[in-house]
Amino acid sequence: MMRIDLRNTSAERLGISHGVELEREFKAWAPRLEQAVSELWERRPDPSAMLGWIDLPDAKPAAQDIASFASEVSGQELSDLVVLGIGGSSLGALTVISALQHPYRAIQQQGEGLRVHFVDNVDPDAIKGLMEVLDPRRTLVNVISKSGTTAETMAAYLAFREWLERALGPGFAGRIVATTDPESGILRPLAERRGYRTFTVPPSVGGRFSVLSAVGLLPIALAGLDLDKLLEGAGRANDTVRRPLAENPILQAALVQYLQYRRGKSISVLMPYSSRLRNLGDWFVQLWAESLGKEESRSGSRVHEGSTPLAALGATDQHSQVQLFNEGPNDKLIAFVRVEAFASRTEIPDSEPELSELAYLAGKSFNRLINVEQVATAHALAEHARPNYTLLLDELNEARLGELLQFLMWQTAMMGELTDIDTYDQPGVELGKVYTHALMGRDGFDEVREELAEHGLS
Ligand code: PA5
Repeated sequence: MMRIDLRNTSAERLGISHGVELEREFKAWAPRLEQAVSELWERRPDPSAMLGWIDLPDAKPAAQDIASFASEVSGQELSDLVVLGIGGSSLGALTVISALQHPYRAIQQQGEGLRVHFVDNVDPDAIKGLMEVLDPRRTLVNVISKSGTTAETMAAYLAFREWLERALGPGFAGRIVATTDPESGILRPLAERRGYRTFTVPPSVGGRFSVLSAVGLLPIALAGLDLDKLLEGAGRANDTVRRPLAENPILQAALVQYLQYRRGKSISVLMPYSSRLRNLGDWFVQLWAESLGKEESRSGSRVHEGSTPLAALGATDQHSQVQLFNEGPNDKLIAFVRVEAFASRTEIPDSEPELSELAYLAGKSFNRLINVEQVATAHALAEHARPNYTLLLDELNEARLGELLQFLMWQTAMMGELTDIDTYDQPGVELGKVYTHALMGRDGFDEVREELAEHGLS
């Protein structure tokens, strides 16, 4: 089960300047938020609304196809999967796989599922380094690009295709799987021409909302994880979000985010207390930033909306960012994620019995220590009138993670509704792409190239 503890955001706890009168606000906002959910729910079938992510938990046939491909692959002599993708085409699978596979699967020789490596940047050393350590004869490559044109991903494709072909000859085509839009872009026709196995990203699902489409599900299945449970958990969040606000933690969290943002808490921190959830922060940062940071409102006024997301990790960042959270500007809302029962119980042994200074740790567990640290940090922040809330997961498994991801996608969607911007576009990243294409000598970009040369850029 997933629960929320909002007490440290309340006016009762923090005072009226930094806290929210939860009961009063919940009552006042319930009609508007419940109505917004109904409207989004109704608009799901309209492909231009980009709400296809809501239906992904019910897209069982697509998930079954992926699962059967994964079981075909598990019969082959493969050890590694390389995922080529960036932004929404990489972060979802990275989050789920790093949360649920063995924490050190990447350095295990034998283990559940393939070892998965993400090429989500065009760093020459990282790309060359990965090719040096992997065996192409035992590696599958999944190139993922919804648009099928992204420069970083297509450059990585060119490199890994050659790497595979050099080792395997014409058989290389059996080792590349492409995940892309059913029609647009160059990846789809290319994959068909080369005979690659392909999976489809539904056109109504945007990159950062695509973790539960083939974009995320294929690498997740190849990592040996259970798709049905992941989708079942996400379906639970879809049920939760349609409840009245008084019993709806998703709408409550979205509303607290909105009210605190309007009161100047312009930074939204996500701080899981679990190393396995380290990448959840990056996934959240991309989802929140690219969805909500917008120059224009839906009616075209210039608004420059956007709360700034920040990823932190407990307990590690208690020795880093928490100093700023407690004593710096009071401009943050901190959302903790706490796992109540970890997969294992790891004791802290009494291995230095003569050291009385360590007696308080000895004989306890790391499980207790990490969660006590979370409770202590949340309380200390509240004592400094710093608003924070906790999302509690009873355990960390596919179902709970699916629920958490869908929870955070709904929270983002609702924040977009409340700030009245288009959650699903990203015009602010286009200009940089155009300049990159021009500087890399792409045909059709001569004019931009000349313009850049005037600024001394070539
Ligand atoms: O959320 C988004 O839309 C983006 O972050 C995309 O996922 C990212 O730009 C990669 O795009 P594509 O999948 O088209 O290569």
